[in-house]
This record gives sequence, structure tokens and C-alpha cells, in this order.
Amino acid sequence: MGEKYVVFRPVLCIFHWESDAFLGSVTDKIVMCGIIAYVGPREVRPILLDGLSRLEYRGYDSAGMATLADGQIDIQKKVGRIAELTRHVGRKAQPPANMGISHTRWATHGEPSDANAHPHADSTGKLVIVHNGVVENFQPLKRRLESEGHLFVSATDTEVLSHLIGRAYEDSTEPGDRRLTDAIRTALHSIKGTYGIAVMHQDHPGLIVGARRGSPLVLGVGEGEMFLSSDATALLPYTHKVVYLKDFDLTEIRADRFQIESLTHDTAEYQVEEITYAPDAAERGEYAHFMLKEIYEQPQTIENAIRGRLNSEEASAQLGGLNLTPAELRDIDRVIILGCGTALHAGMVGAQMLENMAFVAAETDFASEFRFKNRPLPRNSIFFAVSQSGETADTLGALREARRKGYRCLGICNNVGSTIARESDGGMYMHAGPEIGVAATKSFVSQVALFGLLTLTLGRMRQMSASTGHMIIQAFEKLPDQVRRILSTEDHIAAIAQKYAHVHSMLFLGRQYNYPIALEAALKLKEISYIHAAGFPASELKHGIIALIDPQTPTVVICPQDSLYEKNISTMQEIRARKGPIIAVATEGDEEIHHHADDVIYVPRTVEMLQPILNIIPLQLLSYHAALTLGRDVDKPRNLAKSVTVE
Ligand code: G6P
Repeated sequence: MGEKYVVFRPVLCIFHWESDAFLGSVTDKIVMCGIIAYVGPREVRPILLDGLSRLEYRGYDSAGMATLADGQIDIQKKVGRIAELTRHVGRKAQPPANMGISHTRWATHGEPSDANAHPHADSTGKLVIVHNGVVENFQPLKRRLESEGHLFVSATDTEVLSHLIGRAYEDSTEPGDRRLTDAIRTALHSIKGTYGIAVMHQDHPGLIVGARRGSPLVLGVGEGEMFLSSDATALLPYTHKVVYLKDFDLTEIRADRFQIESLTHDTAEYQVEEITYAPDAAERGEYAHFMLKEIYEQPQTIENAIRGRLNSEEASAQLGGLNLTPAELRDIDRVIILGCGTALHAGMVGAQMLENMAFVAAETDFASEFRFKNRPLPRNSIFFAVSQSGETADTLGALREARRKGYRCLGICNNVGSTIARESDGGMYMHAGPEIGVAATKSFVSQVALFGLLTLTLGRMRQMSASTGHMIIQAFEKLPDQVRRILSTEDHIAAIAQKYAHVHSMLFLGRQYNYPIALEAALKLKEISYIHAAGFPASELKHGIIALIDPQTPTVVICPQDSLYEKNISTMQEIRARKGPIIAVATEGDEEIHHHADDVIYVPRTVEMLQPILNIIPLQLLSYHAALTLGRDVDKPRNLAKSVTVE
């Protein structure tokens, strides 16, 4: 270890998902793709392929790996899904290898192709790199390298980085393995942009070097083996001990040890944390798809979100991770909720809960829109960035914008150690376990439940009575069983999905709390079945949407027996008069509804503010079965990625 690198001794910290702690750090914009690297005693190829398949949600247009066997680097790459790479690798007889780096790609620079897939090599072919991120100044760098005689075989920005490291390696005078690390340091200092990388070199067997800035990278600490991964869940079968690397961390990993240093400071602090997922949490088990598994996990998702957070004595909730004193909570004048896609829809339910039940002004915005707006807001506004992954670039950008303006920003995240969690002033963890299906399901339910808890907390500090607080707590406690009851009607919902799966378009209507449910249900259908779908407030029907109604265009009307029931019945009559088929999501025991709808899906009754949690469940199943009927790739729909870390 060179003198200027003071490496802190590891501290073993048991990281509880129950913990509400949020961590602090600095990062920049990030992009997708997944990395997994291994060094240890085992045959590396199955480990890399297994890890890649767990990271495939991060991108799936091409994949590749580099291994070191018999003193030679071997690179295998294939356009398409991981299964293509697995077949490709399986066809070749190869000598045993105990170290390697691999990558699943979501194209940013250069089309998906074998040549553009990672890993990329330097001019000597001895150094290989996988990279998640964007080298923003790759064009001038590439021109310079080309003028020096470097030949490029791909259209990627990453290949520029491999050549830069290769060139720095030739120039480095550091002894032994430090030569590789030194070259990586030099090259990283000359690029602008983001990276999570893993690098190895033929002449440095047993060493893999990783570094990050703006793209997630997790170090997995095994028994006599080490890993690097873009996401801790990919490491679950191998180790539960991880170090979430911070921006500008650089790590050398070897089978029996690792060290972490900083690219910008003399010292690097880190913690070895223990992830407490069940070992099979990221496995599909008996379910045909992750999405279905995650839909079925929702009773537990709710239990996990509320565990230890309901306070019956005070008829309130306790949310330690908010990091706000009761006085600060009472002083909040306005809540602004930011997110994208499903997370934003959850926020829309949350904003209504907060206004109706906690008497706090609340609003939502697309994170991507908020970032570029002028928004005069009261000083005592508080922001919530909602994100399952905690890595969505638009949400992260919006969070930073709000913080820049001096507002307190909290996070609602599932992914512990994610960038949004780290950069927030506090927040609530979802404890939902890994969500792998690209279409978000359990994360939505969890986020809405958390807004329910927040409403309870803030409401009880304002005008909400103790009896209302108790009623909400009791309703929360019943929710898991009520969700189970809905899940037991899957066959009925599947039959309805099959009946309508071949339509060109489907409409979703709901009022108040159920308008965001209409949006979310339409999003689910679009995402995985590719059927055109749109959600609207039910009352908007007559203001234009009614022109779309015809016998081939079904409408899902979310119609609980609540204060707006009669209004929804009128909406259905307007649709029926135009011969539009209707699927109603109705309250158990409502027989009347059959006179107004062609198909009825029943859900149990709960308090109005929590009803959206129950109403979305059958609509998730409806989308799932429509997609299945159409033969779609449910867990990996076309063009989508689970975590959109590009702007
Ligand atoms: C992408 C996904 C959506 C998701 C959204 C927000 O668009 O395809 O399913 O809702 O990102 O993701 P986040 O991780 O921030 O909740």
C-alpha cells in the first residue's frame, strides 16, 4: 500500500432493513447496465452468468464476460438476453477459470451488438473493463487516442476508457499490482462523466479493481472470495456481507482480501454491512414470473411496511427515520412529492391522504418536470423523493434541485444504500425486499402504505381525532388478509383478462383516491401487454374521452361503495349508453353493480384512504394475465428497464 493511501479498517455493521437510517454521500448522474465480477476458488463462469441473470433487469440488450484462464484473457460477448450468452459460453470447452468480470448492457453509446457489448479491451488485449456509466468527453479523447495510433473496434465510450487505462499502464512506474491501480486512477482523472467499473489484467492474476462515480457498485465480501456487483441482490446466493462503495471509492479485490481507497482523498471510510434479505428473496420459486411472485408477496409487503411503526397507544405512527422533531413536523406547511412512473402514482395517492386526513397542503410533480421549473414554495415545504430503486436519474436530479434551494428532502426508497437514500435528509424505507419484475407492483403498495403512516403521524399532530387514528390503525392491520382474499380470486380475474386481451385499447377511470389507481392500472397494462391504455379521473369522461367509447373499447371503472359511488354509477351509464364494455372494481357485497357492468371484480372494504391499496391488486393481476394471454415477456417487457438511470 502506497503511503498516500490510508485505508480504514473495516467495521462490521449489521444493517437492519428495519433501520430507518439514511446515509449521506455525493454522487452525480448515473446510467444503467449491470456489472458482476468474481475472484476466488470457484469456477467463475456459472457465478458470472447467474449474477448477470439477477442483474438483467438493469438492461438486457447484450451481455459479455472476460475470464482469466491458463494465463490468458478470454472474452465472450453476445447480443440479446443473458440466455444467449449462456448458450454461447456453454458451447465452448474452456479451461477452468477462477476470476472474471461481466456485464449486461442497456445501450447508450452504440447500438446493441456483439462488438459493442462489454467487456472492452485495450490495445494489448491484456486489459479488460466492464463499465456502467457514460464517458461524456469520450469523443475528444477518442480522437486523441486514434491520432496516437489506437484502433477501436466498437462505437462505445467504454472502449475509450479501456485504451486510456492501457496507455496509463504503459506509462506507470508503480511496482507490482499497484501499476494497474495507478493506471486506473490516472485514466479516471482524465474522464468526465460517470462510472461503475471492474477491471482486470492478464499480468495481474488474482486482482480485480473496481471504482465508482455516479453508478452503483457494491463489494461482496465472501469467505475466501470477493465480488463486485451493481446491486447487492445479485450477491445474495453467495454472501450477505457487502460494502456499498461511495463515489470516488476505488477498490482492489483479491480472493482473500480487499482494500478501499479514495480517488479524491487520502482516506476512505467504509463499513461492511450485513444484508438481511432471506436467501431466496431474489428467487422466483414456484411462480412463473417475478411479477406474479411479487403480486403474491403483497400481504407481507404491507406487514413489512407497517411493522413496528403503528402506535396504538397514541393512535398514531412512529417514523424514526424522518429525522424531524415533533415541532418540525408540526411546522410543515406543504408537502411536495416527486417521483416517476409507479412511484409518482403512489405519491398522488399520498398527497390526497395528506390533504384529506392530515390537513397538510400536498402536491405531486413528475420529478423530470420539477427539475426545470420555477416553483415558489413556502419555506416550510418539505419534499419526498419516492423511488423503489433509489437510483432513478430524474428523481435524483429533482431531489438535488430541491436541496440546492435549501428545502428539507426525505426519501421513500426500497433499496438500502441507494443514491437517493444516501442523499436524503431522512426518510422511510419500504422493507419490501427485492423487486425484480420490471413492472412495479409490491413497491407501489408499500409506498402507499408508507404515505398512510405519514398521514397518520402528521394528522395526529393536527386535527385528526384519536378515534380516526384508531380506525386507520385497525384498517391497516386488516389489510394483509384482505389482500390475500383478493389474490384468491385470481382465476376469475384471469378469465376477464383473457376475454379482453385482444382489444386495441383499454380505458381506466377512478375518482379521488382512485384516479391514481386508474393511472397505475393503465401503466401496468401498457408496460407488460403493450395494449394502449390510459387512465383518467372518471368525471373527465364527458369532457372528451367519451369519444373513444365503442363496443371494442372496454373501460375499467374503479367504483368502491364510497362517498362517490353514485357518481361512478352515472359514469358507467354514460359508457353503457355508447355500448362500451365495462369492468367494475367494486366493493364486496355490492350486487347492484351487476346492473351496470359486464364484469365485476370484488375487493373488500377498508377506510377510504387505504382503499387504493386493495383496488390496485386485481388490476395488477388483470395486466399480468392479459400479457400472459398475448405471450409477452412479463418480467422483461420490451424497451423498458427497471431502473431508469439515464435522464
Ligand atoms: C421506470 C420503471 C417504472 C418505475 C419508474 C420509477 O420507469 O420502468 O416501473 O415505476 O422507473 O422507478 P423507481 O425505482 O424510481 O421507483
